[in-house]
Amino acid sequence: MNLKLWISFGAAALATSAAAQDSNDLVLDGNAFLTEIAAPSHMENVDTIYSGWRFRTSETQALQSDDFDNPGMIFVDQAIDLWAKVDGSEGKSCASCHENVEDFAGLRPTLPRVEEGELVTMENIINECRTERMGAEPWKWSKGNMTAMTALIGLQSRGMPVNVAIDGDAAPFWEKGKELYYTRVGQLDMACSSCHEDNYGTMIRADHLSQGQINGFPTYRLKNAKLNSSHGRFKGCMKNIRATPFKEGGEEFKALELYLASRGEGLVVETPSVRN
Ligand code: HEC
Ligand code: HEC
Repeated sequence: MNLKLWISFGAAALATSAAAQDSNDLVLDGNAFLTEIAAPSHMENVDTIYSGWRFRTSETQALQSDDFDNPGMIFVDQAIDLWAKVDGSEGKSCASCHENVEDFAGLRPTLPRVEEGELVTMENIINECRTERMGAEPWKWSKGNMTAMTALIGLQSRGMPVNVAIDGDAAPFWEKGKELYYTRVGQLDMACSSCHEDNYGTMIRADHLSQGQINGFPTYRLKNAKLNSSHGRFKGCMKNIRATPFKEGGEEFKALELYLASRGEGLVVETPSVRN
């Protein structure tokens, strides 16, 4: 099924080729953030990649352009408290071992990455510290503590270009992610590419379709008034096409995360971004 059919299925309007990603720039703390750049060479069908910020209304853009207005920052503040909070049988907090969260600058753009043959995301790393080093319960993938902490750690790399490894050990995971990206699924028989590659820039149910970039995750959504993980977003998109979503934190979504990160290579980290 193609996009137009999907739209009629959903009884909404499609305004083809709505005004392209307008050229206004994201400026934060006086720094200009790059929101478009030439696509990495592994992308065959797209010349230019754009941050999802470019597809939002000026009101939503404004919320991300000022940290005092960015509702995602409330959760970052919560994570600062969590950072120092003792939890688990070892009587430790994150701060017991990691002196400053600022030391994680540069980490976010390189994740997910392969460690000992496994693809690991920031959530995996945090939970490993919790379970193996603190004797604490793991945090649920998309629940408040985890998204707050991934936002706090991600924020330390804000403005740094995404640069994930996709060769060597990472290659099989990347290939798997790519395959998933282009595989049609669900009752509506659509792939991620059907929307985010073939139709970005068009309006879909009053929503301006982006390239589905993940450089701003976790992202604060006005729709649910909380921070959302990238896997949570993938799940939502799969449900929208009436497919059975993969599990958050599962191998499929981790591979997709790596592949999507690579499709955003060179765009800068915008965590926590704001979306509708
Ligand atoms: C008992 C000590 C200890 C505690 C407590 C701890 N960690 Fe870690 N953490 C480590 C060690 C050791 C590593 C691996 C070596 C390294 O990269 O520093 C690590 C690695 C990490 C990394 C990856 C760093 C990188 O650059 O690859 C992150 C992110 C992280 N921890 C976050 C946390 C968070 C968030 C908490 C609290 C929920 C926490 N850690 C609690 C010891 C700890
Ligand atoms: C029927 C069209 C459609 C399909 C198919 C689809 N999405 Fe989406 N997706 C959307 C819409 C609409 C939005 C919200 C507007 C936007 O950001 O593009 C969205 C948003 C996103 C975002 C958030 C982008 C941002 O900047 O915050 C990501 C990431 C994403 N999708 C990934 C995926 C993945 C991965 C798949 C395949 C599993 C997929 N989507 C399939 C329609 C689709």
